[in-house]
Amino acid sequence: MARLAGKVAIITGAARGMGALTAKRFVEEGAKVVIADLLDEPGQALAQQLGENARYVHADVSCEQDWQTLIAEAEALGPLNILINNAAILHAAAIADSDGDDYMRVIKVNQLGPYLGIRAAIEPMKRSGGGSIINISSIDGLQAKNGLSAYVSSKWAVRGLSKSAAIELGPYNIRVNTVHPGGIYTDMHGAGEGAQPSDEDNAFYVNHPLPRVGLPAEVANMSLFLASDESSYSTGSEFIVDGGWNAGLRLDLLPTS
Ligand SMILES: NC(=O)c1ccc[n+]([C@@H]2O[C@H](COP(=O)([O-])OP(=O)(O)OC[C@H]3O[C@@H](n4cnc5c(N)ncnc54)[C@H](O)[C@@H]3O)[C@@H](O)[C@H]2O)c1
Repeated sequence: MARLAGKVAIITGAARGMGALTAKRFVEEGAKVVIADLLDEPGQALAQQLGENARYVHADVSCEQDWQTLIAEAEALGPLNILINNAAILHAAAIADSDGDDYMRVIKVNQLGPYLGIRAAIEPMKRSGGGSIINISSIDGLQAKNGLSAYVSSKWAVRGLSKSAAIELGPYNIRVNTVHPGGIYTDMHGAGEGAQPSDEDNAFYVNHPLPRVGLPAEVANMSLFLASDESSYSTGSEFIVDGGWNAGLRLDLLPTS
């Protein structure tokens, strides 16, 4: 039996990258999916490829009105069960070399976007008898990096937001969790559509517990578990898909097996 049979999902930022892979995986498992993005051409092409169980909607996650459109499009497919807040942007600059506008541009998409999405999904999910909200954070929501202060701040914030929402929405059987990918081979990582990681792409990860870059499908499979009823007692939690990066790195200075 398909793991998401009869469920309706909204996935933001799903025109490409991990969101697109997740949309494909969800349709394979019986879900109806609304693909939300600003990239109309790849978004429409993906919806067409996935057939009658997918539709593309142009929507900016930082715009409250666009969320009303997304909810209406999803409910036209059936009661809303799943929301994946996946859309995000990066701004790589040192704090000293960036300004408040750079910072707020990232915060609006990565932090305000998931807040507006959760808010918009509450009543539809209550009507459905419950739901699963998955907020895509990052390893950068567990650690930090130089040059990514806005991104790191937004990904830590999403983790806190998810826990608050989980506490508020648990009584309605609405679960809220975060997924924390490590380095994943997508457009954000410089990979084009259908590209396979080379030895050079894996080189950065040589001292990680699993010494390779992650694949979008490996994150999609975690979201699939969280979206399905298989994770029915999990909420307010962090689900890490990072090849062990957050556990620590293998040090050449010390013995290893
Ligand atoms: N790729 C990685 O290594 C990595 C690692 C950790 C976390 N993540 C997270 O995973 C998620 C997906 O990453 P990806 O690598 O697939 O990224 P990506 O850049 O390939 O895809 C992001 C999508 O979001 C869309 N988007 C951007 N702003 C939007 C807006 N305002 N409204 C609607 N859509 C918008 C983009 O058009 C794009 O299609 C993001 O939340 C990212 O932060 C990625």
